[in-house]
Amino acid sequence: MLGGFGWTEDTAPGPRVPPPPVVLPEADDAPASEVVVALEGISKTYATGAAEVHALRDVTLRIGRGEYVAVIGPSGSGKSTLMNILGCLDVATSGRYELDGVDVEDLSEAELAAVRNTRIGFVFQQFNLLPTLSAWRNVELPLVYAGVARAERRERAHAALDRVGLAERVDHRPSELSGGQQQRVAVARALVTDPALILADEPTGNLDTRSSEDVMGLLEELHTSGRTIVLITHDLDVAAAARRSLTVRDGVLLDAAPVPAASGT
Ligand SMILES: Nc1ncnc2c1ncn2[C@@H]1O[C@H](COP(=O)(O)OP(=O)(O)OP(=O)(O)O)[C@@H](O)[C@H]1O
Ligand SMILES: [Mg+2]
Repeated sequence: MLGGFGWTEDTAPGPRVPPPPVVLPEADDAPASEVVVALEGISKTYATGAAEVHALRDVTLRIGRGEYVAVIGPSGSGKSTLMNILGCLDVATSGRYELDGVDVEDLSEAELAAVRNTRIGFVFQQFNLLPTLSAWRNVELPLVYAGVARAERRERAHAALDRVGLAERVDHRPSELSGGQQQRVAVARALVTDPALILADEPTGNLDTRSSEDVMGLLEELHTSGRTIVLITHDLDVAAAARRSLTVRDGVLLDAAPVPAASGT
């Protein structure tokens, strides 16, 4: 696994200066391609001692802009491995991955971190909020690492929290929010950079029924407004919210219906 997001207490805004933003290579096919995710022959093999685990086998997948896709599969089938590769948290053993027109397999670790920070919005089961920071300070973090000026960060973080219905809670710390509200803060953080892809890994896994419906309603709204969403879940009811469903079994991706050809490309 690569070096995380940089969202740590150590690197939270404060006396320490964030690293300068990394300039990403231009997308191959600018203006923005209609294909956000293109995986071709992706395999991931873990070598543990003498044994090899083939966590993903020859996965080929295209996800078009604005699609809402669920990835389901039994425990150990390779869902998290796929999520880690999609999220540039890990690199494949072989195959090609183009995210929003950028070939990611040749990027340095710093460039991958920049891709994670600017092109992908993550929502995790455990919310992953920093406990000592207020809601808006949590939401502005990806912008700190992207080198956005302070006044603009504040404005965008507040707008994102407003978007998820938390305008009245911007100064609350995570411990002063319900689980559902914390996950909404995480969704605001995922949105604030205007990423090409939102990756949600079991986003309702720690929520009660009502908060789950709340967060799923939010994802539905984001889909309606044109966001590209990949939702990883073992819960078939949750997966049913997506417009397209993919199954991973023993590292093999099933039912990967191709995206209809985009007009004009
Ligand atoms: N770091 C690792 N080293 C070795 N093997 C690993 C590693 N990570 C995952 N695996 C193996 O790869 C396979 C796929 O694991 P993965 O975590 O992707 O499954 P999953 O579908 O997310 O399961 P779950 O639903 O339980 O989260 C499993 O057999 C797992 O044991
Ligand atoms: Mg998993």
